[in-house]
Amino acid sequence: MTTLPVVLTQHPNISVDIVDLPDFKQAGVQLDLLRLDLVHPLISGNKWFKLKYAVEAVMASDCHRVLSFGGAWSNHIHALAYAGYEQGIETIGVIRGERPVRLSATLLDAERWGMTLEFVSRAQYRNKNEADFLAQLRDKYGSFHCLPEGGSGEWVVAGCREIFSLFNADQYDLICCACGTGGTLAGLIAAKPDGVELLGVSVLKGGEFLYEDIRNLLADSGVVDPDGWSLTLDCHEGGYARVSTELAVAMRHFTELSGIGLEPVYTGKAFLALQRKLKRGELPPGTRVMLIHTGGMQGLRGMQGLLSKKLP
Ligand SMILES: Cc1ncc(COP(=O)(O)O)c(C=O)c1O
Repeated sequence: MTTLPVVLTQHPNISVDIVDLPDFKQAGVQLDLLRLDLVHPLISGNKWFKLKYAVEAVMASDCHRVLSFGGAWSNHIHALAYAGYEQGIETIGVIRGERPVRLSATLLDAERWGMTLEFVSRAQYRNKNEADFLAQLRDKYGSFHCLPEGGSGEWVVAGCREIFSLFNADQYDLICCACGTGGTLAGLIAAKPDGVELLGVSVLKGGEFLYEDIRNLLADSGVVDPDGWSLTLDCHEGGYARVSTELAVAMRHFTELSGIGLEPVYTGKAFLALQRKLKRGELPPGTRVMLIHTGGMQGLRGMQGLLSKKLP
């Protein structure tokens, strides 16, 4: 019998917040927010869904060691380290870049939860999917389950499709979320009701690769691409974790009026994409929009300085 991981067993009880922003209201557009950021204090947002079945598979196997990849402020590394700590799974985080003198708050947390950090140069990090590189890591650490960067492995579609069990998706015309690897969007696409459009907002420059990666994730899970989804590739604001003044101002506007915090790496950019669509008249009156807050607020600790510099 397989046991679901303790931290990931309870079905999350998540609220849908109505976001009363005057610009959306005046245009007759309803904007709601799915608060996945509240799903768990430490396995936040989409991570809860991404890790659920991956951790279950690890627990059901003989090898209770997981290795994964990320940057100094990675939400995935943070959530994985905590899930491993709670579950008695040994975790190894392969971190992009040399070990700094002072670790980021994210990596300090991860180490505190028992994760072993393996710092590799940016050049080595680019080989993260190569057999030779993984073989070297196996020589060093013994056997492990390898979870791809961002946690978008073979279980991501099964986990993320369950996001639809949290709200009535038929009540929306457009559902929007941020995309890094595209795993979360792939899960949503797999369970999308007919007539609902999905919009993924690439937070990376050059996000064209997402089309192929998402189609591959769907195919690997035996899902026939249902259409009715698209990507916005021009709201990355210069690239991953880059911030523009327009983004900083949009986030401040959102938070001042709704009382809900965003972070600029993911959900902030997804909101910006919706705001730009509204300004361009691409959301007709009567459109009902659900923005998915995919969490990651822990990463804000590394972005506050940049954000305030960008504010006029
Ligand atoms: C907070 C947050 N939102 C959205 C995403 C994007 O998810 P995905 O990589 O599945 O596209 C990530 C990265 O995993 C994330 O950390």
